[in-house]
Amino acid sequence: MKQVLVTGGAGYIGSHTIVSLVEQGFYPIIVDDLRNSSRVILDGLAELTVDRFLFIPIDICDKEALFRVFDDHTFDAIIHFAAYKSVGESCEVPLQYYQNNLIGLMNVLEACSRYSIPKFVFSSSCTVYGEPDQKQVYETTPKRLPESPYGFTKWMGEQIIEDVHRNSVPFQTICLRYFNPIGAHPSGLIGELPVGIPNNLLPYITQTAAGIRSHLTVFGNDYPTPDGTCIRDYVHVNDVADAHVRALLFTSENPLSVFNIGTGKGTSVLEMIQYFNEVSGMDLPYHIGSRRAGDITEIFANVSYSNATLGWRAKRNVKEALNDAWNWEKRQAKSND
Ligand code: NAD
Ligand code: WQD
Repeated sequence: MKQVLVTGGAGYIGSHTIVSLVEQGFYPIIVDDLRNSSRVILDGLAELTVDRFLFIPIDICDKEALFRVFDDHTFDAIIHFAAYKSVGESCEVPLQYYQNNLIGLMNVLEACSRYSIPKFVFSSSCTVYGEPDQKQVYETTPKRLPESPYGFTKWMGEQIIEDVHRNSVPFQTICLRYFNPIGAHPSGLIGELPVGIPNNLLPYITQTAAGIRSHLTVFGNDYPTPDGTCIRDYVHVNDVADAHVRALLFTSENPLSVFNIGTGKGTSVLEMIQYFNEVSGMDLPYHIGSRRAGDITEIFANVSYSNATLGWRAKRNVKEALNDAWNWEKRQAKSND
C-alpha cells in the first residue's frame, strides 16, 4: 500500500483529503501539531476511515522532528497543506506567516530531496492571480502581486518550488491552486473549524444561521457585477480532496505542473445567501455594508486543463456544499450544547 505524508492533515482540506486517500487505498501519515485543528477532527477521521491512518503531532518547522519522521517511515508522496491561512491575520503578524509558511515549505522540500520522495503536492491558491484583467483565469494567466502577506507566502511558495525545479530534482511537483473551498463531509463528522470570528463567507453564513452571529454583512453591493456583489468560484471541499488523489495518480514528463481547482463557475455573495436560504429553509439576516479592503471584484477558474490533463472535475454543486456546511454547523452546535 502506498504511504503518503500529509502535513496539515488534521486541517480543513487536509482531513477531507485523508478520507479520499483511504478510500482510494493509500495509507496516510499525518503530521500536524493541531495549532489550527482539534481532536474532534481526528476522532471524526478515525470513525470515517476505521483508523486507517497514523497521526504524528509535530511542528514541521522543527526540521529535526520532521526528518525523524522520514527516518522512521518511507513515503511514496508528500501532500503539503500545513500553513497559516488567514488573510487579515497575516497583515497583523506578517513574520509569523512568512516563518511558518515558507520555512515549513522549505523543510518539506529539503526532505523530498534528501529522502528521495518521488512526488510532492503543494497547496497553492487563486490568490497568486491577484486582481486579474480577465475574470476567468487560466493556469497561464500571469501571476500578479498579492494583496496580503498570506498571499505572498503562496506566491513565493510557488517561486521557491519553480527555482528548486530549475536544477534537475528527482521528484515531480504538482501545485494545486484552490479557489474557494467550502462545505464539509456529508457525514457531518469533519468540517471547517474557524477560530474566533470567521473571515470567510461560508462559516459566517452558517454561524449566523446557527444564531452565533446576529447577521451577515455583505461587503459592498456597488461592484460592476450583475447584482453588485463580488463573484467567486466556490468548490466543494470533497472535490478539492479528490483532486489530491488525482494528483498522486498523475504522471507527466513535466517535473512541475500547476492546476486550477475550482468549478469554472462564479457565484455572487447574494446568490450564496439565496442558495443557503433554499437549502436550509431559513431567511438569513444580512445587511449591506461597505467594501472590504483588498477584495477582488470577480474571479473564477478555467478548469479545462485540470479536466483534460489531471483527469479531475468538480462533481458537487454549490447547493450541495452549502447543505453539507449547514449540516456540519448544526452537528457542532449540538455537540457544544
Ligand atoms: P487549516 O488551517 O484548516 O489546516 C492547516 C493545518 O496545518 C492545521 O491543522 C494546522 O494545525 C496545521 N499546521 C499549520 N502550521 C503547522 C506547523 N508548523 N506544523 C504542523 N502543523 C501545522 O487550513 P486549510 O483550509 O485546510 O488549508 C490547507 C492549505 O490550503 C493551506 O496551505 C492553505 O493556505 C491552502 N489554501 C486554503 C484555502 C481555503 O480557503 N481554505 C484556499 C487556498 C489555499
Ligand atoms: C468571499 C466573498 C467577500 C465574508 C479568501 C482568501 C484567498 C483564498 C480563498 C486561501 C467576498 C464576501 C465575506 C463576509 C462578505 N484562501 N464576504 N461578508 O476573499 O474570496 O478569498 O479565501 O488561499 O486567498 O483571500 O473568500 O470567503 O473571505 O470572501 O460579504 O462576512 O464573500 O467580500 O466577496 P475570498 P471569503
